[in-house]
Amino acid sequence: MKQPIENIAVIGTGVIGAGWIIRFLFNQKTICVYDPQLKQKKFLENEIKRAKPILKKIYKKNINLSKQLKFCKSIQEAVKNADLIQENAPENEILKIKIVKEISKYAKKNTIIASSSSGLLPSKIQSQCLNPKRLIIAHPFNPVYLLPLVELVPGKKTDKRFINKADKFYSNIGMKTLILKKELPGYLSDRLQESMWRESLHIINEGYATTKDLDDAIIYGPGLRWSLMGTFLTFHLAGGKMGMEHMLEQFGPALKLPWTKLKAPTLSKSLKKKIIEGTKAQSKNKSINSLSNRRDNFLIDLQNLLLKYKI
Ligand SMILES: NC(=O)c1ccc[n+]([C@@H]2O[C@H](COP(=O)([O-])OP(=O)(O)OC[C@H]3O[C@@H](n4cnc5c(N)ncnc54)[C@H](O)[C@@H]3O)[C@@H](O)[C@H]2O)c1
Repeated sequence: MKQPIENIAVIGTGVIGAGWIIRFLFNQKTICVYDPQLKQKKFLENEIKRAKPILKKIYKKNINLSKQLKFCKSIQEAVKNADLIQENAPENEILKIKIVKEISKYAKKNTIIASSSSGLLPSKIQSQCLNPKRLIIAHPFNPVYLLPLVELVPGKKTDKRFINKADKFYSNIGMKTLILKKELPGYLSDRLQESMWRESLHIINEGYATTKDLDDAIIYGPGLRWSLMGTFLTFHLAGGKMGMEHMLEQFGPALKLPWTKLKAPTLSKSLKKKIIEGTKAQSKNKSINSLSNRRDNFLIDLQNLLLKYKI
């Protein structure tokens, strides 16, 4: 368990796989990648090219693609020498169980297999894994190369030593690890995001607001506060001098009012249309690349502010 983690295999190089690769590259790791879709190679190369000048602002060392990055033709080839494997295939339980089984067949016996799943239970994903005690969830946030949070979730068969090793590894590459005591669907952060997403869909569906109205409702209000304080500390301040105690007295009764529905509405054709057209209008014809650059530069400035003000 003591070997350092230098060689990483990344399986699936879509949005999240590419994000991990960029973070690993800038932390001077060597990476073997596998994705069954050839076009993903171009996508990855473009993402590296796009993010490179932005990341130069925060990383002192440059990257050397010919030395650090290797494209492989199979899972077997990608994982055989890896010290850690990051799995980023589509969010589909049956597919992930199958891929993890294959990875475990060819990987070194004690290599950590980390799935980026957004909410599937690790106990399910490890169900056909050889030596399942090394399977963990390491759930990141997009863009992975800039957002520090990674949720580490053990399954029923996971050995705590692998969580501890993963904790050290992800912390060493600049991440903030959040270790869950036990697995639950959606983990922590996505449960919070999902509850807001479900309420937002109801509001759009019933015609109370547009996608832009709801985004503005976050961007100019709670979102600004959330960058520094989460829900609990924010509400502590909402209670004035008495803090959370007064907040609970004042707003406790609202918990009985119909302020949330929580159960998601049906994703009907007309609801999908409203959301897709709404977000298109919001992006004002700017490309995904240009919006990503804007977001990335903003996140760097914001994290500097967080360092300055965090408690
Ligand atoms: N997009 C997000 O914001 C986000 C955030 C955190 C976690 N995740 C999780 O990360 C994982 C990947 O999501 P994504 O958004 O990058 O999806 P994506 O669709 O962008 O990428 C998935 C990639 O997996 C590849 N793939 C398909 N079948 C495969 C196989 N059999 N073996 C290997 N690769 C295969 C695809 O070619 C594609 O490149 C999912 O589990 C998702 O829940 C996504």
